[in-house]
Amino acid sequence: MSEIIIQGGRRLEGTVRVQGAKNSVLPVLAATILHPGQTVLRGCPHLSDVEASIRILRHLGCSAQWEGEELVVDTSSMDRWDVPDHLMREMRSSVIFLGAILARLGWAEMSYPGGCELGPRPIDLHLATLRRLGAVIREEGGGLRCEAHHMAGREIALSLPSVGATENAILAACGAEGETVIVNAAREPEIEDLQTYLRAIGCAVRGAGSSTVCVEGRRETHDAVHTIMPDRIAAATYLAAVAAAGGEVELENVDCRHLSTVTAALHEAGCQVEGGEGRACLRSRERLRAIGTVRTAAYPGFPTDAQALLMAAMLRARGSTMFVENIFANRYRHVDELRRMGADISVAGRVAVVTGVPRLYGAELRCTDLRGGAAMLVAGLSAEGVTRVGDIHHIRRGYEDPVRDLRALGADIRLET
Ligand code: EPZ
Repeated sequence: MSEIIIQGGRRLEGTVRVQGAKNSVLPVLAATILHPGQTVLRGCPHLSDVEASIRILRHLGCSAQWEGEELVVDTSSMDRWDVPDHLMREMRSSVIFLGAILARLGWAEMSYPGGCELGPRPIDLHLATLRRLGAVIREEGGGLRCEAHHMAGREIALSLPSVGATENAILAACGAEGETVIVNAAREPEIEDLQTYLRAIGCAVRGAGSSTVCVEGRRETHDAVHTIMPDRIAAATYLAAVAAAGGEVELENVDCRHLSTVTAALHEAGCQVEGGEGRACLRSRERLRAIGTVRTAAYPGFPTDAQALLMAAMLRARGSTMFVENIFANRYRHVDELRRMGADISVAGRVAVVTGVPRLYGAELRCTDLRGGAAMLVAGLSAEGVTRVGDIHHIRRGYEDPVRDLRALGADIRLET
């Protein structure tokens, strides 16, 4: 059982290069199925969720291997359309493969993606979208059996701007005859990155990043090279860590436009934040101060994935900060663990109120989920004494090497297996 051990209380200073975005590379890996040829991905992060996607591609008959720092995928030999249960259970977001498999082969089978640590993860919008395009989907025995040999472009109005449902709609629409217009689409930057990749292989997609995305289906595709965008949540993680522990950090490989709600909150808390071309700097000298209510929302609102990270930074701030988690039903599972360190947090449904305490104490913690686990690292850095974080497989899903990155900032942190 591996653990991350942190001796907290140190001021942090240094430079970190931010990894490629998990939430971009996963839909892009699914999208490689649309082109029966080669895709070279650069800036692809080494994550367990990426390895899970590679296992799915290989199961489908595709090849996918690392060649140095490039991930080379070739789907020309794809000969299966089923994603077995054990692969679906490894990664809930595997449902993103559904639209691409249907677009490529007209058949798809997969088990229902299980729920996850964040509560139920329904896929009703994904299925409604695919049915709207003409897919016939039978839900039986915990699995999905889908047929879609003649998908036709339609207008699709999403009842809520679901990231995954938007991505599945775009990928399926690439295999549909004619034009598809997706209304109330999610606007996350990762969807723009997906559009950039799809255009690179020859698909006709426009409007990603806005609420209306248009796809002209069944275009000739060709090989391509694509560089994955920077991970805005990993960037937010390191900014929160330095804000919490005090010090100064320069981040490389960031797009500050994607971080604005997070950097605005940290600035309000008393940090100095500057953004440049592909870089972001944060300085934190005094004890942070409480900020106005933090409401998570679909992009460009405050990202739900940064809620736990900002909460961890506010644990020792002067005053109280209210959080309202509007996206997921159960995204405060990290609170009980943070309380073990002396944090003062009250939770009632979707609302959590953090009242800053003068000091936090190192404790034995267990990761509850990906971003909750990252929040525990942030809190451990600003606590007195030793914090031991277990169940770190959750963290490995989305962070390439947080020990390496935080050690580069001078943190006393190590991995103990
Ligand atoms: C993506 O998840 C991200 N994952 C999540 O990041 C992120 O938190 C989320 O978007 C919101 O930004 C990936 O991109 C791989 P949604 P996704 O569909 O697509 C409900 C992380 O930590 N909903 O936008 O699953 C759903 O239950 C992860 O990196 C339905 O009701 O999110 C949720 O309450 C966590 N029916 C809300 O919509 C559906 O069919 C938003 O979910 C689909 C979603």
